[in-house]
Parts: sequence; structure tokens; C-alpha cells
Amino acid sequence: MKIFVTRKIPDRGIAALAAKGWAVVVNPHDKVLSKSELIGALREGQYDAVLCLLTDKIDADVLDAAGKQCKIFANYAVGFDNINLKAAAERGITVTNTPGVLSDSVAEHAFALILAIAHRIAESDRFSRAGKYHGWEPFLLLGTDVSRKTLGIVGLGRIGSRVAHHAAKGFDMKVLYYDLKRNENFEKEVQAEFRANADDIFREADFISIHVPLTPETRHLADTRRFQLMKPTAYLVNTSRGPIVDEAALRDALKAGTIRGAAIDVWEHEPELTPGLADLENIIITPHTASATEETRQKMGELAAQNIIEKLEGRTPPNLVQT
Ligand code: DGY
Repeated sequence: MKIFVTRKIPDRGIAALAAKGWAVVVNPHDKVLSKSELIGALREGQYDAVLCLLTDKIDADVLDAAGKQCKIFANYAVGFDNINLKAAAERGITVTNTPGVLSDSVAEHAFALILAIAHRIAESDRFSRAGKYHGWEPFLLLGTDVSRKTLGIVGLGRIGSRVAHHAAKGFDMKVLYYDLKRNENFEKEVQAEFRANADDIFREADFISIHVPLTPETRHLADTRRFQLMKPTAYLVNTSRGPIVDEAALRDALKAGTIRGAAIDVWEHEPELTPGLADLENIIITPHTASATEETRQKMGELAAQNIIEKLEGRTPPNLVQT
């Protein structure tokens, strides 16, 4: 078997594939391949499986280049909005992802952003490094307490429910959640309250944390109208996918004081940031690193490799997005 890995990933996943005695070819350049480079590499190699990243746009042309012998595209991510599922299904190519193994890491990052924006951590760091601290002051860099405030979760999947758990158990927060499905067991576990309409989350929460996949329905879920529903003291945190937040609208809402602050790990047009956003003090911006811990990135590689192994050995991969 021949496997193509579109960019170097931590070693264990690669080692698991190599241990099968298969030829594993890793993109030798530590950069995202352009569409034509990816097509060229796939046409030339005639691979049985491709381990791809969320930065690879897997469209019909790329799938065609992979050829008829290619059975699976295993995404090294839980999100799979980079893959044209319809085109993959039409060509009989299986698509898998890496759910579960990154939930703790992303939930921790989301909670770190909640604490950091409420306590103005990044802003205070910039202030201190700039030599602006001249002694304790009663009104210096006042933030907001997180404990006992209301957290609104949009999307109660694996990651959203971990964030809710940390909020309720660690900070005595009241948890509200919106999801397509109600989860009464979870409601009992953390005394969470369900809201059937996302608007109610935006209206009632002090902190909103977004955990939905990117689909045509969720694109710009957080937009000008919803920012106007929020309390002027409320904060928005996004660790899901950038285009779920209308970034120009977020910039304007932060500038106008419509909302108090925001923290984003994912950007609408990665790696470009909407002009003006980086000039604001009331936003924390991290570069899509919520899952970036050594343990998690290894586990993501192992899981992507396992999906490939199961498929190529004729079994059902554990993390099927689509057969
Ligand atoms: C994912 O797995 O979808 C994450 O965004 C990776 O950080």
C-alpha cells in the first residue's frame, strides 16, 4: 500500500502506517501544498490513501487526481469542512476525521480564553512589557469575574460539553446551551438549561462559547444582529471555525462597545485577519492552536493512521464521516 501525508505531522501516526510495511510518503516541504502541487503529487504517486490536513482543500479536482485506487482521505482534524463530501461520495472515497482525542485540549483552550479575556491577561502582559506599570492602582486594568456568571454554549458536542463541565464544576457558573438536540442527562449533570433558540443564548449569557461545525447554516451565526442582542458587558469566544463569526461585524461591535470583549482561536479568512481587529485591546487572538498540545497532536495522528489502516485492511474505520 502507498500512503501520502500532505504535511509532516507528529511521528506516531506515521510510524503506525510504516509499521505495516507500507510506503509512506510525507510532503517533504514543511508548508501547505498549493492545489496544483497537491494534484501533481497525487497523480504521480497513485496512492491508496491520503492523510490530509484542514489546510488542504479537498475538492473534486483533487479527488480525481487521487485516482480510482485511492480509498480514503483521512483528515487530521475533527472538522471536515475542507473536504467536498458530495464529490468524495460520488467517487466512492471514504472520509474520516479525528473526534474525541482533541476535546480536552480545545475545551481547555476555550476556557483559557474565557479567563484571559475576562481578566485582561494579554492586554496586561502588553502593558507590563511596555514599561507602563508604575505601581498598584485601584482602577488599573479592571476586568470581570467569571465565577457564578452565566455561560452560554452554542453546540453541546464533545468539546462544548467539556467547556460547560469546567464552567459549572470549576467556577459555579450557570450554564445555558443551544443545540439541535436537547440532552437531558447532561442538563442534570451540570444543572444546565436548554434554549431552543440560539438568540436566547446571545441575550442571556455573560460569556458565549461557540462549538458548532461550519456548515452553510452556521456560517455567520454570530453576526451584527446577534451582537446587538448581547449584553454590553458580555464576551464572545470562538474555538470552532472562523467563518461562524462575521469578523467585520465583530470588529465593529468591539469598537462600538456593543459587546465588551472577544477571544478567537479561529479566523474567518485564515491566515488573514480582518483589518482593524488586531488594533483592538478588547480581543484576544490565537492562531488556531486550541488543539496544539504535544499529546493531542500525537493522538490525532494515531487516530488518522488507524482510520487508514482499518479501511485498507477491509474493516470499517472508527471515525467515519462518510463511507
Ligand atoms: C480540528 O481538529 O478541527 C481543529 O480545528 C484542529 O485544531
